Amino acid sequence: MKKKLVFLTGAGISAESGITTFRDSGGLWEQYRVEDVASIEGYYRNPELVTNFYNERRNQLMEVEPNEAHRLVAKLEEKYDVCVVTQNVDDLHERAGSTNIIHLHGELRKITSSRNPNDPSQIETLPEGRSITYPDDRARDGSPARPFIVWFGEPVPMIEAAAEQVGTADILVVIGTSLNVYPAAGLLNYARSDAQIYLIDPSPANVPQYMNIHIIAKKASEGMRQLCDEL
Ligand code: APR
Repeated sequence: MKKKLVFLTGAGISAESGITTFRDSGGLWEQYRVEDVASIEGYYRNPELVTNFYNERRNQLMEVEPNEAHRLVAKLEEKYDVCVVTQNVDDLHERAGSTNIIHLHGELRKITSSRNPNDPSQIETLPEGRSITYPDDRARDGSPARPFIVWFGEPVPMIEAAAEQVGTADILVVIGTSLNVYPAAGLLNYARSDAQIYLIDPSPANVPQYMNIHIIAKKASEGMRQLCDEL
């Protein structure tokens, strides 16, 4: 019986692939106001600005590749029962070969209905090679199509599934997240008291002091190499 290994990843794991994080210096939230491009109010206020914001991120995603950290996460499926709980909306975990992924905040390469965004029948993957959507695109139900992204102010439908995974993990590895955003950051509290917990981040932040966490203060790829040696 393979041990259960759960990852909680954030923007930092994709940084070495060239994808901008949110809160590091020069991060996305220094270039854009969150409320303008990542909130439901911002979408209704200016759907064109939001559409362009996600088009830019999809264009960037088409130019980048998974990095060694993503690949090492995927490779651990050979030895462990792995689940990747990610806050990231990129598809780099998938492209690196991970097969059991929970996207807490949606997926950049998908669009959905603005009337019923979490109706599975409305969620569509953009065709290979297509990164651009337009404000007058329609979803299957005829409503304006919107990015399949969980915006600030919206529920996080996958949080219960993610908590279930973290709560049954023998080993929990947190990589590249500032642990700023809830409910994702609160997932650490679901870890079993006997779980081994690691955190890989060159600048660890908001690390719960009351938990016994093995901190690897390195970038994701180097940190994952060290983790694989230690596991
Ligand atoms: N390797 C590992 N970690 C890194 C690297 C790297 N090369 N570079 C930066 N980091 C770390 C930073 O130190 C920071 O702790 O990655 C983290 C990035 O934090 P954020 O930019 O806040 O990203 P994240 O935690 O994923 O944000 C959570 O906020 O805006 C929302 O929905 C958005 O999913 C996102 C959520």
